[in-house]
Amino acid sequence: MPNVLIIGAGGVGQVVAHKCAQAPEVFENICLASRTLEKCDRIAAQLPKPIQTAQVDADNVPELVDLIGTVKADLVLHVALPYQDLHIMDACLETGVDYLDTANYEPPDEARFCYQWQWDYHERFKERGIIALLGSGFDPGVTNVFCAWAKKMHFDEIRELDIIDCNAGDHGQPFATNFNPEINIREVTAPGRYYENEQWVETDPLSLSKEFDFPEGIGSRKIYLMYHEELESLTRHMPDIQRARFWMTFSDNYLKHLEVLENVGMTRIDPVEYEGRQIVPLQFLKALLPDPGSLGPLTRGRTCIGCLIRGIKDGKEKKYYIYNICDHEKAYEEVGSQAISYTTGVPAMIGAMMMLTKQWCGKGVFNMEEFDPAPFMEELNRYGLPWTEITL
Ligand SMILES: NC(=O)c1ccc[n+]([C@@H]2O[C@H](COP(=O)([O-])OP(=O)(O)OC[C@H]3O[C@@H](n4cnc5c(N)ncnc54)[C@H](OP(=O)(O)O)[C@@H]3O)[C@@H](O)[C@H]2O)c1
Repeated sequence: MPNVLIIGAGGVGQVVAHKCAQAPEVFENICLASRTLEKCDRIAAQLPKPIQTAQVDADNVPELVDLIGTVKADLVLHVALPYQDLHIMDACLETGVDYLDTANYEPPDEARFCYQWQWDYHERFKERGIIALLGSGFDPGVTNVFCAWAKKMHFDEIRELDIIDCNAGDHGQPFATNFNPEINIREVTAPGRYYENEQWVETDPLSLSKEFDFPEGIGSRKIYLMYHEELESLTRHMPDIQRARFWMTFSDNYLKHLEVLENVGMTRIDPVEYEGRQIVPLQFLKALLPDPGSLGPLTRGRTCIGCLIRGIKDGKEKKYYIYNICDHEKAYEEVGSQAISYTTGVPAMIGAMMMLTKQWCGKGVFNMEEFDPAPFMEELNRYGLPWTEITL
């Protein structure tokens, strides 16, 4: 039976561990490793069956290689931070072990994320006979699979894609982020970017917004245009797409705090001198903000993430919307985490399941939309992220 090594014991790692434990027929042997061993042990104690835990610095390739060897891992499921992607991919190459992540590589000293760094590993993974599955979270992840599903089942040609991510939940805190604050704030404060007629158009951060009416009683919310990594892979793998955009909701309160923090320099990622030592303001801010893991018991409401697609079917124009709604309190009841971690951790487990059961296989580096979406869509319904589709 396969051995899975999960790296990262944060909000997402906790959900992944719980969900893998719910499918013992696939994930018989699990090891959860992270920088802080106590966090792994705390999660392990919540599970119905014992799992292994280990301490690892995932920026240290020799340490990773040793751990992969000790665990005899068949798959490394990486849910630590994007900074570790390339180090973990290097360790997988050295040991000949398959790789999965949920976020594309970002260099720590530059707020820039793109797939090219990881796509550049394709030939080496292919030659080594192993597979890397990139971006198996919700967005990226399920949103890519939703597009592949729409293309397979509903469209001859996809022309316009709007990915819309709404967190209609409330944690009652003056200011907090739903996942790692450093990664979240880097993403939100970056310039917006969308794809139109084979070109990328750049906008000022959060400068484009509009109202969107969300289904099932969530109602109208303001959505803001952002750049998100799945736009890069989807426009590459689905060349029919003429326009692709990503939108996210933010409360006025979140935006007000973010603006002040930016204005006073607290979101800077370059080191500044403070009392004789160098500190990175955003990393210091992270230490002050609530740990996203602590928001689980406080968060009420739901998320709604989906794809609004326009295109052509049988010569006629068609408009289609596919989405999932996830309830923060129900997620917490099941796995002790709020819906943002839940909607990332469940698809990470399903992606690993697709690889281990060989329903998705290949040699090289792949994005989610490159595989048959059908078995993944079935498991979403089974493992807590049911989806709804509507022709508009
Ligand atoms: N695709 C999606 O839909 C989506 C959505 C949300 C998040 N994500 C991604 O999911 C990942 C996890 O997010 P999260 O909210 O769970 O973050 P988190 O709560 O901050 O957890 C990150 C974990 O990684 C560990 N870690 C950090 N650096 C490490 C290192 N060098 N070696 C070993 N472990 C290390 C941390 O250890 P310590 O606790 O010791 O610091 C922590 O346990 C991130 O990459 C995020 O971008 C994807």
